[in-house]
Amino acid sequence: MKTIAPLSDFGFKVANTSDEAFDVFNYLNTNRFEKDTNPNGVVNIGVAINKLLQKTVVDKLNAAKEFDFESLEYGSPRGSDAFRNEIASLVNRHFNVHTPITDDDIVVTNGCTAAINVISWIICNPGDAVLVSAPLYGAFLSDVTHRTGATLEHVQVPVSELQSTSQIALFEQKFAELSSKGIVPKMLIICNPHNPTGKIYPRKVLESFYQFAESHNMYVLVDEIYALSVYRAPHLNDTPEPAFVCSDSTSSESTSDLEQLVEFESALSWPNLSDFINPQRVVVVHGMSKDFCMNGLRVGWIISPWNKDIKEAAFRTSNFQYISSHTDSVLTNFLSDHEFIDNFISQVCNRLKESYIKISDYFKKNGIGYYPAQAGHFIWADFSPLLLKYTNKKLIAASKSENGNVNGTSNGTENQNNVTLLTSTSQLSVDDCKSMWRDAVYKAGVCYTAGANFLADRPGWVRVIFAIPWDELELGLDRLIKFSSPDQ
Ligand SMILES: Cc1ncc(COP(=O)(O)O)c(C=O)c1O
Repeated sequence: MKTIAPLSDFGFKVANTSDEAFDVFNYLNTNRFEKDTNPNGVVNIGVAINKLLQKTVVDKLNAAKEFDFESLEYGSPRGSDAFRNEIASLVNRHFNVHTPITDDDIVVTNGCTAAINVISWIICNPGDAVLVSAPLYGAFLSDVTHRTGATLEHVQVPVSELQSTSQIALFEQKFAELSSKGIVPKMLIICNPHNPTGKIYPRKVLESFYQFAESHNMYVLVDEIYALSVYRAPHLNDTPEPAFVCSDSTSSESTSDLEQLVEFESALSWPNLSDFINPQRVVVVHGMSKDFCMNGLRVGWIISPWNKDIKEAAFRTSNFQYISSHTDSVLTNFLSDHEFIDNFISQVCNRLKESYIKISDYFKKNGIGYYPAQAGHFIWADFSPLLLKYTNKKLIAASKSENGNVNGTSNGTENQNNVTLLTSTSQLSVDDCKSMWRDAVYKAGVCYTAGANFLADRPGWVRVIFAIPWDELELGLDRLIKFSSPDQ
């Protein structure tokens, strides 16, 4: 038999590169925690989903539409006119748009994942770079690079600088570094509201990002998937909180600064966008997964009011990532009840706020540091003291099983078992971070997001999803604390 031709370079690479986060994501679906039927299953506080209003959504969807003959036919790959009209109406009502958008500005995709992938594909040539700040939403790593041949280049921004224009210097530095290697940064991603920190970019920072992109001939993808999940803001009469620093964190950075509590301003709302950037460089994504609690339906959209070519290219490739005809008509129906939708959006925000208060109280009670958040389903927390305890617990367990022979670390101290233990969170490694995360999923039955998978600046950061019923969330957090504590 002849040897068979290899897969494409991409096919070979993707088939032979491990992706632990992807594997865990798949495992979660096989062993999901269910209070009555699978109480030992994995409590998922790692995947951004809003479960707080699922019943309302399911009831509304069930009432929306039954299958009919039309459901069995090919629909419109860019989304039906009726659906795109309802999306335009939603955006015009809730994004404070400067110029109303129309159905013609929208291309529907099967999720924002696909929207980000197709935009990267349309804008970048193989070898071009996409810039984004880190910590980042981990799936950008594949969304931007798979199929496109582009690379994702992250700029490490301390969370304390995320709302400051000082970060632009870091972007300039990265740009210069890439350019000197002949790499062209072609696109910038702005994730606003920000995943994983739940923070909102102040206008000044957005202006600077736009100016940066304009000056370097870059496109800007603005990911606004959490636009309607803003639960703390000045207009809601909230007041800024200081970051909560855990008492036993030995990290040298200061996290006690007062947050900047700002209003969310969609790219679509700026009357003077063109003072900072040619709007043709800017494209926005949004969808149903987060603000409407329906990750599983796989529906997102690209909004390109300013650039006809982006819109046209997304339209011409839309048959690779379009939603089913049935989903299209069910969601047209869902969005067409404006009174329900407008009320639903405020309910989402109220429920998120209640949950945020509960988790921040839990963190304070248990000495877990966190950055205050304003939007989204998650909170960025400092688990480094727990990681330190867990890593030492593992070192002790390993030494016991090896009769006291354990490879210690150079900076640690010896305890009575002759094990060299870590004494400071600054000694923790990315491997320690991933090891605890893996063990939490497979041994302790709780899945959170390890900061290492989101390119955090040091081990110990985690993203915890709080948009789930409190009993489940509390169980997940309790499992985590118990499993990392030395005496368990
Ligand atoms: C910032 C961000 N963008 C895009 C996505 C992808 O969403 P979708 O379910 O629409 O593919 C997510 C999902 O977690 C996200 O957090």
